[in-house]
Amino acid sequence: MQHYLQFKDLSADEYAYLFGRAALIKKKFKAYEKHHTLVDRTLAMIFEKASTRTRVSFEAGMYQLGGSVVHLTTGDSQLGRAEPIEDSAKVISRMTDIVMIRTFEQTKIESFAANSRVPVINGLTNEFHPCQVLADIFTYIEHRGSIAGKTVAWVGDGNNMANTWLQAADLLGFTVHVSTPNGYEVNQAVAGLRSGDSYRVFTDPLQACQGAHLVTTDVWTSMGYEAENEARRAAFASWCVDRPMMAAAAPDALFMHCLPAHRGEEVEAEVIDGPQSVVWDEAENRMHAQKALMEYLLLGRQS
Ligand code: CP
Ligand code: NVA
Repeated sequence: MQHYLQFKDLSADEYAYLFGRAALIKKKFKAYEKHHTLVDRTLAMIFEKASTRTRVSFEAGMYQLGGSVVHLTTGDSQLGRAEPIEDSAKVISRMTDIVMIRTFEQTKIESFAANSRVPVINGLTNEFHPCQVLADIFTYIEHRGSIAGKTVAWVGDGNNMANTWLQAADLLGFTVHVSTPNGYEVNQAVAGLRSGDSYRVFTDPLQACQGAHLVTTDVWTSMGYEAENEARRAAFASWCVDRPMMAAAAPDALFMHCLPAHRGEEVEAEVIDGPQSVVWDEAENRMHAQKALMEYLLLGRQS
């Protein structure tokens, strides 16, 4: 049994398979062709934080695969009344076939997985967001081909998305130029990296974007960190992806954002709504990529 708790849980070869499979699944979806590979399978989705894309993409995706879903939140389940995560895992995994969790500390999802009889997928933790980067790289490949050897500029917080991009770079052979304000740097140990070979740190976000093939950013304040909002607003003021940053990047550079976005904070409206932005493809591709992922975790490779 295989879990997907962080990006490095799968190999480069497995990702090559998943990107190809996601393309096939997407093509069939666009042609209104049935793709019922998970009939009678049930996905449990557990949300301890808010969501739009993750909820819709997993729920619609599982139905499209012929399966069904159960949706739980902290507030309407015993999780909110301090039932231990280990007990919840034992119970939920006896009744369902696969589980997606969005929670706070990575240690929580690890405890769940250690007590689960079925595969567990990380739908975002404080440390990682592997399903998003899976969809983002699938999106990059659709638009530009292989990401190997390319440069991705990360402008903003050294957060769950940044950590996941660093793991992906290490595994898939590209480089990340990271620019964060002081005090919000990525931490190699938290990111779970063996070395710093796949990323370079830049004080100036404009420098980080120089020659990049993809420029990406995220909210200044992630879910769970709202108490730091005011301090972050001050610290991140210069980490807004704007036209000069996109002009410094490669001429055919793409712009990505996992969404939700705050125009005028981490990105200017003219960039996210401009011609280099592929944010809507990114959001849609969550569903296609996760359908390939769920199918793979439950059935293995399909020919
Ligand atoms: N990008 C993403 O995970 O969006 P949601 O928070 O809406 O699920
Ligand atoms: N870094 C953001 C991503 C939201 C999809 C957060 O954790 O809130």
